[in-house]
Amino acid sequence: MKLLVTGGAGFIGSNFVHYILKEHPQDQIINIDSLTYAGNLENLSTVDSNPNYKFVKVDITDRMALEPLFQEGIDVVVNFAAESHVDRSILEPDVFVRTNIMGTQTLLDLTKQYNVAKYVQVSTDEVYGTLGDTGLFTEETPLQPNSPYSASKAGADLLVRAYHETFGLDINITRCSNNYGPYQFPEKLIPLMIQNALSDKQLPVYGDGLNIRDWLYVDDHCSAIDLVVRKGRPGEAYNIGGNNERNNIQVVKTILNELNKPESLITYVQDRLGHDRRYAIDATKIRNELGWNPKHNYESGIRETIRWYLNNLEWMEQVRSGAYQQYYETQYGER
Ligand code: NAD
Ligand code: DAU
Repeated sequence: MKLLVTGGAGFIGSNFVHYILKEHPQDQIINIDSLTYAGNLENLSTVDSNPNYKFVKVDITDRMALEPLFQEGIDVVVNFAAESHVDRSILEPDVFVRTNIMGTQTLLDLTKQYNVAKYVQVSTDEVYGTLGDTGLFTEETPLQPNSPYSASKAGADLLVRAYHETFGLDINITRCSNNYGPYQFPEKLIPLMIQNALSDKQLPVYGDGLNIRDWLYVDDHCSAIDLVVRKGRPGEAYNIGGNNERNNIQVVKTILNELNKPESLITYVQDRLGHDRRYAIDATKIRNELGWNPKHNYESGIRETIRWYLNNLEWMEQVRSGAYQQYYETQYGER
């Protein structure tokens, strides 16, 4: 199978590239990524020389640059590329609309034009909005996004659905809860708190710290997407989550405890605007239909993740300083 993976230099995309090359060594991957601040080829340095892997620096809104890649003939598009950080979407929503909505539409058009057999949109549980104290998001939950980020992802989901209904494209949409694991950019809760704790800096917890997220180890997300790529029923959306609800204070305290740092580093700061209170996923459909099962337990997964960041302090430092971007320019120039 030949996969066109977009956003493969980011957190989940790079974990997915590693996952596919390991689980399906006969598959070919073209990774396209525009290398925004969140894209890091360092995440993929160990697969760079694999003959079944190729990286091309392309923006998903750039139709002309994408066209030759589609002309090569591909079997499936897996679209990870996105602006992914909620706080940034509050500051500059326009780039979220451009990449997340217009980029998706460009990829859908090319999928249609070149008769690509399958298109998988990697979406998010945030399109459903927020939950109260009880209940779970199912695939039937109405889309009620609350941030510019989630609104742009919901807009993309609706376009993907429309290309199925109108043009008969074989599409799937996956909606996963919060991921954790290696290679996550340290603007997101877990790597940010690890980094601050290691430097004895304050840990900024929004609001009362009792917002709940449903955490899933990134490899379990990758295995779910892999199943959808190979077995997803045309036109269907699949929720992905591991039943690991934790409030933010619990997550932060686990990190402090593991790093032997004092809880006095916790600092309550002004709440995020429009902050969703609780996410929780009902993943019955993907479990029953596709036989998906997460392998990682949260308690050991979070400890493994903390150890990964401890063992990769140089990676963290390079990501923060943008050194890898300079390295890329020196090594490859523009391509
Ligand atoms: P990320 O920010 O780490 O990576 C995004 C990647 O997309 C980067 O490599 C970036 O360079 C690339 N990119 C951005 N704009 C681009 C453009 N215009 N053209 C080409 N490449 C571009 O994000 P992530 O956390 O890995 O998330 C990946 C996908 O999964 C996103 O679509 C996100 O909405 C979704 N998702 C994330 C989570 C999570 O917990 N992180 C959970 C569910 C779904
Ligand atoms: O649910 C899936 C989504 O999870 C993905 O679609 C997004 O791409 C991904 O970024 C993530 O969104 P969140 O907003 O849930 O993740 P974030 O790491 O930004 O925040 C997690 C929780 O921690 C949230 O309640 C806000 C809080 N938080 C976050 C940061 C960065 C803090 O309290 N302090 C912080 O400094």
